[in-house]
Amino acid sequence: MTWTPSSWRNFPIKQQPTYQDQTLLKEVEATLSTYPPLIFAGEARKLKEKLAAAGRGEAFLLQGGDCAESFSDFNAKNIKNLFKLMLQMNMVLMYSTGKPIVKVGRIAGQFAKPRSSDFEEINGVKLPSYRGDIINGMEFTEEARMPNPENMIKAYNQSSSTLNLLRAFSRGGLADLNKVHQWNLEFIKDNPLGKKYDELSDKIDHSMKFMAACGLTSDIMPQLHQTTLYTSHEALLLNYEEALTRRDTETGDYYDCSAHMLWIGDRTRDLSEAHIEYFRGISNPIGCKVGPSMGEDELIELIDALNPENEEGRLNLIVRMGASKIQEYFPKLLQKVKDSGRNVVWSCDPMHGNVEKSSSGFKTRDFDNILSEVEQFFAIHKQMGTVGAGIHLEMTGNDVTECTGSTSCAITAEGLASRYHTQCDPRLNALQALELSFILSDTIKDAE
Ligand code: PEP
Ligand code: CO
Repeated sequence: MTWTPSSWRNFPIKQQPTYQDQTLLKEVEATLSTYPPLIFAGEARKLKEKLAAAGRGEAFLLQGGDCAESFSDFNAKNIKNLFKLMLQMNMVLMYSTGKPIVKVGRIAGQFAKPRSSDFEEINGVKLPSYRGDIINGMEFTEEARMPNPENMIKAYNQSSSTLNLLRAFSRGGLADLNKVHQWNLEFIKDNPLGKKYDELSDKIDHSMKFMAACGLTSDIMPQLHQTTLYTSHEALLLNYEEALTRRDTETGDYYDCSAHMLWIGDRTRDLSEAHIEYFRGISNPIGCKVGPSMGEDELIELIDALNPENEEGRLNLIVRMGASKIQEYFPKLLQKVKDSGRNVVWSCDPMHGNVEKSSSGFKTRDFDNILSEVEQFFAIHKQMGTVGAGIHLEMTGNDVTECTGSTSCAITAEGLASRYHTQCDPRLNALQALELSFILSDTIKDAE
């Protein structure tokens, strides 16, 4: 069947808003389709090569960021803190594994959210659910909850300036390996974990001095003073993605130029539906979430639909089972894919299967469950002789209290109220994310 950027419209689709003003929607789509692409195809191809290396065990994928970006939390400090946290985690993982780390942010476009229900009811008042700032507002009023097509323009503009700053940080000196000490975030510095990071930074400083003495300095080696942070998001709102889909003049292939990598959520991966149709036609590296309801044959069909050429680095399967379910559901899927010879990049999302309600009433995730799912994921790969290629986290560079537990900050159910800021799901704060990367670096080494 012929694919076009709009052929998804002929298929059933889930998790979409109902726009009242169809004329305005058409106008917004037309406007967006004239805007410059946010990324270019060559970058997406480069990422695909790096993911292929991760799939072979020669690199490691670190993907992370907010559950949902928001218009209200948009500022340079938040972007910078996440960027610094990514660099710190990169350093911890790279130093211990000796592998390049492929850094992919859930950023510069991660706005649209799938919801468990179309409506939310509070005290007898029923309104459409909040679906992310690209669609409607979080406030529980009729006006805020009305899906507004113009939010797509605002999301595009925010993504564009976010990406601009990320590119400046990546190339402008902040990522220089002579500055590893400066990446330590303010509120981490005095924690024992911050000290542990400082010790690692000392070792890196030492290596840098040794290399400089050999004549290998950052002015002649760009790898030492710059980095690349790729962007990604769940391509849920296909009106937006279609408007940013462009044909690459070099290859003639279509790319979704809203981000380097896009993924399909666990709730919208039905084989006969619109998201699979849209994704099969774009040439970016793509991801698909794999939850406990995925069947073995269904998974093979899905892989064949999304990656018919069996291209390495094209398809990232993001496993999100939950700490108590991964042992039951994952090994049989992994075995089936291994036996079939399909090339996929397996990563672990230890967040979305571990959501719980705390005794204090907050939606949370416990650090021990997150860690347990990660450890089981890599142990299963080790047993099976396959490659656990990466990790997919919801995290922030800020000092929030959204997930319970961890040794570094030991957040209790009662402590969640103090700085619970997330727009959607609970994120690891910077200390928890750094702690996880130290433990993870040992786990990956053991798994080899
Ligand atoms: C997400 O990654 O924010 C998400 C909604 O995940 P999933 O589709 O796995 O539930
Ligand atoms: Co989430």
